[in-house]
Amino acid sequence: METSKRYKFLALCALMVSLVEAVDRNNFKTCEQSSFCRRLRGVKPGESKYELNLGSLQVSDTTIEAELVNKEADVTFKFVLTALVDNTFRVVVDEVKPLHPRYKVEGALDGEPQVSKLELLERSSEQVVIKSGDNKVIIKAAPLKVEFYQGDSLASVVNGRGLFVFEHLRAKKVEGDVVTNLDEQPQQTEDPGAWEENFKSHHDTKPRGPEAVGVDITFPGAHRAYGLPEHADRFALRSTDARGTDPYRLYNLDVFEYELDTTMAIYGSVPVLYAHSPERTVGVFWLNAAETWVDISNSKDTNVVSSIVNLVSGQQTETHVNAHFMSESGIVDLFVFLGPTPQKAVQQYAKLTGSAPLPQYFALGYHQCRWNYNDEDDVRTVVENFDEHDMPLDVMWLDIEYTDGKKYFTWDPIKFKHPAVMQQNLTATGRKLVVIIDPHIKREGGYFLHEEALANDYYVKNKDGSVYEGWCWPGSSSYLDLFNPKVREYYAGLYALDKFTGSTNDLYIWNDMNEPSVFNGPEITMPKDCVHYGDWEHRHVHNVYGLFYIMATYQGLLNRANNKLRPFVLTRAHYSGAQRYAAVWTGDNAADWSHLAISLPMCLSEAMGGISFCGADIGGFFNNPDEELLQRWYQTGAWLPFFRAHAHIDTKRREPYLYNQDVRTRIRNALRQRYVHLPLWYTLFWEHYRTGNPVIRPLVYEYPTQTDLFDIDDEILIGSSILAHPVTKSGATTENVFLPGGAKEIWYDIEDYRPLPGTGYLSIPVTMDKVPVYYRGGSIIPRKDRPRRASTLTHDDPFTLYVALDNNKRAEGTLYIDDYQSFDYKNKKYLYIKFVYENGKLTSSFIDGDANYQTKAWLERVVVIGPPSGIKEAKITSKKLGTVKLKVSYDGENRSLTIRKPGVNLQETFSISLH
Ligand code: NOJ
Repeated sequence: METSKRYKFLALCALMVSLVEAVDRNNFKTCEQSSFCRRLRGVKPGESKYELNLGSLQVSDTTIEAELVNKEADVTFKFVLTALVDNTFRVVVDEVKPLHPRYKVEGALDGEPQVSKLELLERSSEQVVIKSGDNKVIIKAAPLKVEFYQGDSLASVVNGRGLFVFEHLRAKKVEGDVVTNLDEQPQQTEDPGAWEENFKSHHDTKPRGPEAVGVDITFPGAHRAYGLPEHADRFALRSTDARGTDPYRLYNLDVFEYELDTTMAIYGSVPVLYAHSPERTVGVFWLNAAETWVDISNSKDTNVVSSIVNLVSGQQTETHVNAHFMSESGIVDLFVFLGPTPQKAVQQYAKLTGSAPLPQYFALGYHQCRWNYNDEDDVRTVVENFDEHDMPLDVMWLDIEYTDGKKYFTWDPIKFKHPAVMQQNLTATGRKLVVIIDPHIKREGGYFLHEEALANDYYVKNKDGSVYEGWCWPGSSSYLDLFNPKVREYYAGLYALDKFTGSTNDLYIWNDMNEPSVFNGPEITMPKDCVHYGDWEHRHVHNVYGLFYIMATYQGLLNRANNKLRPFVLTRAHYSGAQRYAAVWTGDNAADWSHLAISLPMCLSEAMGGISFCGADIGGFFNNPDEELLQRWYQTGAWLPFFRAHAHIDTKRREPYLYNQDVRTRIRNALRQRYVHLPLWYTLFWEHYRTGNPVIRPLVYEYPTQTDLFDIDDEILIGSSILAHPVTKSGATTENVFLPGGAKEIWYDIEDYRPLPGTGYLSIPVTMDKVPVYYRGGSIIPRKDRPRRASTLTHDDPFTLYVALDNNKRAEGTLYIDDYQSFDYKNKKYLYIKFVYENGKLTSSFIDGDANYQTKAWLERVVVIGPPSGIKEAKITSKKLGTVKLKVSYDGENRSLTIRKPGVNLQETFSISLH
C-alpha cells in the first residue's frame, strides 16, 4: 500500500477503534428493541394453546413421544422426552414438517448423552406418568405441562405457567415493500419486527421470518437461582420481572467498557441455570445457540403489592423460582438435572458438556500480558526484571501488535524478527509464550491466509452469496466459516510448525474477538442474515461461533505436537462445552474496585457453568490502577484459576517490579502464595477433569443447607479446603468474613494458624499485607514451598503437607503428580495419592493402584495445624526407609507442629505416627 493510502487507512482504523471504545448501552438491544423478546415476553400466563395428543403416544425403553399441537394455528410438533443416566431428562420439541430445517446445536455436548430406562406407570388421555430410577415425570396433555418429581416431591415444572411458544416457520410474502406472512391462518396482529427488523442503521432481512421458541420452568420451593454466565452481575440471579429489569441476555457480544450489575449480554453464553433450596438443587440446560433472553422471578423479591395480587389471583405464593427462556430460533432442547445436591447437578451438567482437560502445570502459574510488549528486547527485559526481583513468572504474552499489520500467523518483521529465538530464550528460563490470534482475516492481496480462504471459498457469506466483509483491527476483514469441517481442518493446520513460521511447541494461543466482534456490525457483531455452511443463518448459530473457533485451535495445537502436549488456549467468547478447549477470562474490565469485586461472582458463575478455568485481567484492562488497587488485585487473582495481568495499550506500564519496595514485596508474596499452592490447584484440575467438580466453588456448593450463605459471593472456596475472602474495597481495615459450617467446623488462618469456628460472620482486621484466607479443618493441603522463577522449574521439588486437623483431630487430602505436560496420564503414568491423618497417624495410599509415575519429588516436611499436645517425636515407616525417627517441633504458640525431613519419595506409600 502506498504511504498516503496507508495513513488514511490507519486513521480510519483509529476512528473505528475510538468509536468502539465509546460504546455505551445504546449500542445494544434491550428486550423491548428485540422483536422476538418482545413477542415472547408478552405471552400471558395461563393461556397456553399447546396440547399433547396422547392418542399418538409411543413409548420405548428410554423415550416417550407424542404429537404436540398448537390448537390455535393447527400446527403439529413432535414432543420427545428421554430418560438419561444420572437423574437427567431431556425434552425435545421440533416441528414435524418445518418449511426449512431448524438448527440443532452441535459442538456443545461431549458426545451423545447416555440414555437410561424408563417405565410407563400410567396412561390416559389426560396424562402420562413415567418413572426412571427414583424420579417420576407426569406429563399433562391439555395444556402441555411436564412435572418432574424426586420421589414424590415436585422439583420442577416445564410450561407450568403456560408460556411455551414454538413459532412454526411460515412462507414470507413480499408485496411491493410490504412483507407479510403467507400462512393460511394468519395469527393475531404480528409484531412489527416479526418479518424484518431494524436496529440503529442495521437492517435484518429475516429470510425465514419469525421462528422463536420459549418456555417457562418453575422450581417450587427454590430459594435462589444461580448460573447463566456470562454477566457482570452478582452470583445469585436476581428477579428480572419484579424490578422491571431486562431479562438476562445470552448473546456473545464485544461490549467495550461493560457495565456492572446488569443483565446485559457480554462475551459468553452458557444457558445452564440451577435452582437451589436447602432440600435440593435442580438444574436446567437450554441447548440453543441463538440469541436468548431469560427472565427470572424469585418469590423472595416479590413485593407486598404483588403478593396481595397473587393471593387474589390464586397465583403461586410459596417460595419458588420461575425462569422463562426465550430464543430467537432453533428448537426446544431442554435438559433437566434432578441433582439433588449442587454437586450432583453440576456433575450432571458436566457429564453432558464435558469437563476441562488437565492443563499443563505452567498454565496455572502467573501470566504477564499487556497490549503490547513492543519488541523482542522488551519481552527479554520484562523477564529479566521478574528474575531480578525474585518474582515468579511462567508465561509472557503478546497482543495484536506482534503481527505484521494484524495479519495473524505472521510476525512484525522489525520488532519480532527472531520469534523462534525469542521463544527459545524464554524456555531456557522455564517460560512459555502465548500470542493472540483473532478470527477476523485481513483482506489484503498477497496475505496467504486471505488468498487461500478466497480460493477455497472458506469465508462466511452475505445473504446474497458474496463474501461477507466487516471491520476489525486490520480494517476490512472476512471471517472463516468454521461450521464447515473442512475449514476447521484447514484452520487447525495453520498452527503446524512449518505453516506458522517462527512458532515452536512452546508457543500457545489466545483467541480473542471471537464472538465474533465486528466493529461496524449490528451490536458490534456479524449481521444475523449472514450465511454459514449448511445454509444456516448467523442468527441460528451465533453463540457457538466462538466455540467452533477454539475447537479448531485446540485441534491445531494437538496436531502440531503429535498429540503429545496438552494445548493451552484462552478464549473470550464461550458457550457450553468451551471448557473442553480453552480457559476463559472476563474480558475488558476496568481498573476500578467494583471490577475487582465482580471478578469473584463472575468466575463463580462460570465455574457452575462448567468453566472452572476462569480469571479476570489483573489490574483492570482500562485505565490505570493506583498502587493499592493493583496490590489487592494480585492478592485476589492469586486465588482465581487463571492468573494473568493485562492492560490496555493506552495505560501506563505496570509490571509489578516497577513499584516501590513495599508494593513489590506484597505482590511477590501474592505470587508466591499462588506458587506454593500449585500442587493443590493442579490436583483440583485433575479432580475436575475426572468428576466435573468445579475447581473454585461458591460456599453454597459445599454447604447447601446453610441458608444464611446463599447470597455470599465475595468469598470463594478453592476445592473444599481453602476459603479466600479477598479484600476488594479501598482503605479496608476490617473485613466481614463469613466462615461456614457451624460451631463444629474449624477454619485456620493460613498465616498464623489461628483457629476460628465456622459460625458465620466475623470482623477480621486487615492490613495491606493481610488477606483473610483459611484452611478448612479436616483437610490436607499439598504444597511446594521452595521459591523458584517458574513452575516448570519445580517439577522435582519436594512437597510439604499441611495437615489442618478438625475437631476430631482428623484430616484428609489428595495429591496428583505426573509429568505436568503430556497425555501420558491416559496410559496410567501418574500418581494419585490419598492422605489420611487419624489417631495420631498420617498414612498415604494410591487412589488408582494401577497407575504409576517415576517422580523425583519427596516429602520435605509435614506441618500439622491444630496439633495434639505433648508430641515428642514422629516415626516414618515405608518399605524402602524401614522405620525412622523424625524431629518434631511446635511453632507459634503451639498452633502447629513441624515434622522435618520425612524424606520419603512420593512414589512410595508411607505412614508417619506421632508420639
Ligand atoms: C480485546 C481484548 O479483550 C483485549 O484483552 C485485547 O488487549 C484487545 N482486544 C486487543 O487485542
